[in-house]
Amino acid sequence: MKNGFWIFIAVFLALGGSWCGFVLAPELQLGGAKQTTVLNTSDVYPVGRPGEATQGSSVYRANGCAACHTEQVRQTGMTCGVTLTEAGKNPQAVTNLISSLVLINLTKEAADAASAKITAGGGKTEIHITATGPDIARGWGMRQSVAEDYLYDQPVQLGSLRAGPDLANAGARADANWQLLHLYAPKSEVKGSAMPPFRYLFEVRKIGREPSPDALKLPPEFAPPAGYEVVPRPEARELAAYLLSLRANAPLYSAPISP
Ligand code: HEC
Repeated sequence: MKNGFWIFIAVFLALGGSWCGFVLAPELQLGGAKQTTVLNTSDVYPVGRPGEATQGSSVYRANGCAACHTEQVRQTGMTCGVTLTEAGKNPQAVTNLISSLVLINLTKEAADAASAKITAGGGKTEIHITATGPDIARGWGMRQSVAEDYLYDQPVQLGSLRAGPDLANAGARADANWQLLHLYAPKSEVKGSAMPPFRYLFEVRKIGREPSPDALKLPPEFAPPAGYEVVPRPEARELAAYLLSLRANAPLYSAPISP
């Protein structure tokens, strides 16, 4: 073993280098991440998920939802638009000015320039920012996902495969009732859905003296036999609460958009 020392140094550098890359660098970049505020307001962002939703996050994890769903919206760019909020003392001149300017689908610089011209003419303007990109065009979110969105998630369930839609904003698209029906029988809500049903999150039981107010109102093809009802188990409720809590669309400094 006359090369023992150099083998030790080589192994140490290889392992130490990857530890720096995988542990130290991310910790330095994001370890100190703190709550921020919603753009142009004093509202803090994010606020933690409600308790039931936090439990639902474990149900999401246990059922492998992240194998088919991502929770990360990508953005490729943004466009700006200018709107007139006040015409000022000489509305006719401002109207003429506006008709000679392009006010939508602008870059930030072009929007600032157009806004400056209108302001010089006596009007008041507002600049609107719209995020663009394929994920946003699909309706999966209004802006890209940023580190702040995941501040209270343990673990963060980004996912890497999209057999189904991105869920970063699932809570903005459907209510709890829809989520429960969809989990029990995806095909009852989305024709030809390729999502597997999660029936074991529900209990099919004999109707007692009175039907439960929580029983799912399923279309006839998916309904249980007469005299039976389908009621969500606590896990299904928690999962629905988690899905409802997925709303990463607040305008932030790191991801500006106009609501
Ligand atoms: C085998 C892949 C697969 C798995 C596992 C899976 N899904 Fe899906 N999911 C899909 C597909 C495909 C769709 C699109 C069709 C539809 O809406 O039913 C979908 C749609 C959805 C939607 C509707 C999204 C929208 O806005 O249109 C939600 C919510 C959802 N899934 C939640 C879940 C949850 C929660 C789990 C885990 C319990 C899960 N999925 C597991 C494939 C999957």
